Amino acid sequence: MNKPLKQHLIDPEICIRCYTCEMTCPIEAITHDDTNVVVDAGKCDFCMACIPVCPTGSIDEWRVVAEPYSIAEQLSWDELPEQQDIGAGAGDVEEALDETVAALLAEAHKGVGGKARAPSSAAKPTINLYTRSKPAKAVVQGSYRLTSEESGAEVRHIILDLGGQPFPVMEGQSIGIIAPGADENGNPHLPRLYSISSPRDGERPGYNNISLTVKREDGGICSNYVCDLKIGDEVLITGPFGATFLMPDDPSARLLMVCTGTGSAPFRAFTMRRQRVAAAGDGDMVLFFGARAPDSLPYFGPLNKIPGRILKKHLVFSRIPGAQKEYVQDRMMVEQEVIAEMLQDPRTHIYVCGLRGMEEGVEKAFLNIAESAGVPWESTREVMCGEGRYHVETY
Ligand code: A2P
Repeated sequence: MNKPLKQHLIDPEICIRCYTCEMTCPIEAITHDDTNVVVDAGKCDFCMACIPVCPTGSIDEWRVVAEPYSIAEQLSWDELPEQQDIGAGAGDVEEALDETVAALLAEAHKGVGGKARAPSSAAKPTINLYTRSKPAKAVVQGSYRLTSEESGAEVRHIILDLGGQPFPVMEGQSIGIIAPGADENGNPHLPRLYSISSPRDGERPGYNNISLTVKREDGGICSNYVCDLKIGDEVLITGPFGATFLMPDDPSARLLMVCTGTGSAPFRAFTMRRQRVAAAGDGDMVLFFGARAPDSLPYFGPLNKIPGRILKKHLVFSRIPGAQKEYVQDRMMVEQEVIAEMLQDPRTHIYVCGLRGMEEGVEKAFLNIAESAGVPWESTREVMCGEGRYHVETY
């Protein structure tokens, strides 16, 4: 028998097919087909460059194997195989991770808190129902601008109708959109991911439609395509994706949500779900939402209409003339008592979504708040991660 070796794998149930790992890998050891993204065991040199960039943690899977899983095998998986008992000589899986790799992994995990998990009460999501080769066809039912012309940034609310095609989604999941045409190498565009901003029973209750919150990016092929769509246009979509950034199906769970800009999409879905079915539960929701100004904060009007007993809103602005710049992490410090109390309640679930840049500041705010309240932050975060109560999705 060969000496057991450690193989780097990707969890197909959690991967959202954003291909960031593939684009990050310096030696092209990561590849994909229409269904899965996989690591070539013959090429991967454990540099760990792909670990911190993965938005879901699906990249962080390791198995000790006698014979590495081939690319073809990995491409055929719907789920990751369990660690096999590979007999004498294999030792404990942890021991088989040699020290150098373990140290690199620890470095790559720093500040991330561990592997993402779904809340234990979350409903089981459907994933990968539609792929690049077999996408669903959605029809644009609505598209309107959420931010003012003067604000500079254009963010739109897009409603897609799935008609008779089954497209079951959970709040917090994403879909892929395939822009028509080809890239500079003549290959079809890869799907771009967008978070769903409507709840599971539809943008309109009981209808098979979903909504997205999309920002027009300068030179962005897909975002310009989506923002230019007109009512009645047909769009090819893949997914749904995402199996961890989900809400607890428990009306007594407390949600602490922190976002910037279009990172608000999943929180609109969470809030609508609660308003529709769980408003009677005693779990509260607290939102910290950062934007440049009120007219560039998506859903500013509708958000303000939600009663404070359902959603406590902290809308903070960074570019109001004459006012001091405020970021979400600044307001978190102002509200530290509320946050400290929530951190100590095992019913609390934390969600952070939006600009990658805010992650560090938000993490520091949690650390400061927890430690001033005598709560050890790193171990608390680890427990919350392990229980599917701590979720970060940044880009
Ligand atoms: P800023 O005025 O500094 O750009 P955007 O409009 O680009 O989507 O950003 C949404 C909000 O997030 C803006 O108010 C922006 O402020 C803010 N922001 C930018 N960087 C950070 C950061 N590192 N931490 C928290 N908020 C940030």
